Amino acid sequence: MGRGRLDLFRSDDDRSALQRARRLALQARSLAQLPRPVARFWYRALRRAQGERDTWSIDVACRPAELRVLLDALGDAPRVAEIGTAAGWTTCAIALARPGREVHSWDVEAHPERDRYLALLSPADRARLHLHDRPGGLGPDDPPPVDAVFIDSSHELDETIATFRTWEPALAPGGVIAFHDYDDAAYPGVTEAVRELGLDGEARGHLYVWRKSDR
Ligand SMILES: C[S@@+](CC[C@H](N)C(=O)[O-])C[C@H]1O[C@@H](n2cnc3c(N)ncnc32)[C@H](O)[C@@H]1O
Repeated sequence: MGRGRLDLFRSDDDRSALQRARRLALQARSLAQLPRPVARFWYRALRRAQGERDTWSIDVACRPAELRVLLDALGDAPRVAEIGTAAGWTTCAIALARPGREVHSWDVEAHPERDRYLALLSPADRARLHLHDRPGGLGPDDPPPVDAVFIDSSHELDETIATFRTWEPALAPGGVIAFHDYDDAAYPGVTEAVRELGLDGEARGHLYVWRKSDR
């Protein structure tokens, strides 16, 4: 992976050179349109990953174009839960997008890569992240009240349904639950879960956004 350019394709990606060029142009444009602290973090994380040859962290993280849609869906939510921390790129982006926002993130595993990227945050920003090593479907014994939830974990049908049911009661009225990788043939469990739950949200690209009634 060259250090002088954005290179975001997985080893099994079979897009043509033209499709890749278009995709990269979209990601570069989207990166420039992210809130400045988020764009700066994301670029530094990418550089660090490239320097360390950490392709896993690059592969699993939300891309800038997806991040734009996600951050827009989260709005000004002051307390956000993320299910599926991985290397923490999106955890950090969610926190940096809004001053003072508190982010709780769950993962079944404390992936060691995440420390490398959390170290890019200032101590004050790092203090706004709360990481938990526990399946998202179990959730905490007593879920903290939150204003938005981002589900990006196993993508399995049962787990996605369990995660929604765990977090919906902890969500403030008017809050959103966003499902990553909706309507993606690689992750049919997410789309099936949304259908089985009978949600009346909206698809924004591959993000499905459901809003809780504010009454
Ligand atoms: C696609 S990655 C998350 C990427 C991350 N949200 C980002 O954008 O950088 C999926 C993560 O979900 C975690 N995971 C898998 N099953 C889970 C579960 N049941 N509960 C919580 N996390 C889970 C995996 O360990 C992995 O780190």
